Formats: sequence, C-alpha cells, structure tokens
Amino acid sequence: MANSDLAIYPGSFDPITNGHVDLVTRTLRVFDKIIVAIATNPDKDHSLFSLQERIDMVNEVFAPLHGRVTADSFQGLLVDYAERKGSTVVIRGLRAISDFEYEFQMAMMNHRLKPKLETFFMMTGESEFYTSSRLVKEVVSLGGDVSGLVPDNVLTKLKAKFKR
Ligand code: PNS
Repeated sequence: MANSDLAIYPGSFDPITNGHVDLVTRTLRVFDKIIVAIATNPDKDHSLFSLQERIDMVNEVFAPLHGRVTADSFQGLLVDYAERKGSTVVIRGLRAISDFEYEFQMAMMNHRLKPKLETFFMMTGESEFYTSSRLVKEVVSLGGDVSGLVPDNVLTKLKAKFKR
C-alpha cells in the first residue's frame, strides 16, 4: 500500500543548495516526510562530492527536523525506487523556463513507466531562482562567494574542495 504522506525528492544534490532546502521546507507543509533521494550511476559519475559526502550534507542540514527529512541513495529507475519506498509522489523544483522541457519529459516518462506515480512541481523560491549546484561549484572554483546560496556546512565543504 502506497504511503501518500511520503514524498520522494530525487536529484544529484552535488551539492544541496538553499534552493533545494527552500523547496523541501515548503513541501513539508503538504507531506509529512520527504526522502531526499540521491541518484547514483557508478558508470558515469562526474560528481564533485562522493555519495557519502552528499548524504552527510543533506542529513546535517535537516537534522533539526527530527527525521521528517532523510537522505538516501538509489541506482536504477526512480519509479522502481519510489515503489520500493511505498511512495507515489515525486517532488521536483522548477526554476526558470529552461527547466520546463527536461522536467516535462521526465514526468511524462515516469508516468508512463508507473501510471500511479505523480510528479508534483514546486516553483523555486524567488531568491533561489538563479541558484544551481552547477553554478555554485563553478563560482567557488573561480574564487567567487556563494554564501547565502548554500547551507553553511556546504559552503565550508565547497571551500575545502577548491582550497579557497
Ligand atoms: O538533479 P538532477 O540531476 O536534475 O536529477 C535528475 C534525476 C536524478 C531526478 C534523474 O536523472 C533520475 O530520475 N535518474 C534516475 C534514473 C531514471 O529513473 N531515469 C529515467 C528518468 S525519466
């Protein structure tokens, strides 16, 4: 039996940004629990942070929420992972128009694979509209300041990665 109080928030989270945090926080007004599900693909993994580092950062950020948000990882199809977890809801954030086509394709494909699975889209918060994990990494690698765009623990780890 699927648990509609549990939503899956899938992604790469390399690393988690304040855009992701904002989305999770607002989603908790609708769903009791969220699993931040970090997708892994051992054959083509170009992540800056290891899977364990990404899981740890997510768990640190949401520790004050006492288990309502947990980090996990999965390999293979998202629809199969959601089914294993007993959830029929996937959450995704939408930033700008450019996100739409990719998100639309994924939602349609996932729905075709598992018609019971619904994708809920949340508009990203205003101040996070231009934030992405990719840009944050690029800016830090070139010596720029991303404080306020990522949680403090992530900022510290980003600086350490790039020796800034
Ligand atoms: O943060 P991202 O990189 O935009 O997240 C993309 C993600 C992980 C949600 C997507 O690539 C995914 O669901 N991967 C798992 C494999 C899968 O189910 N692929 C088919 C998607 S239609």
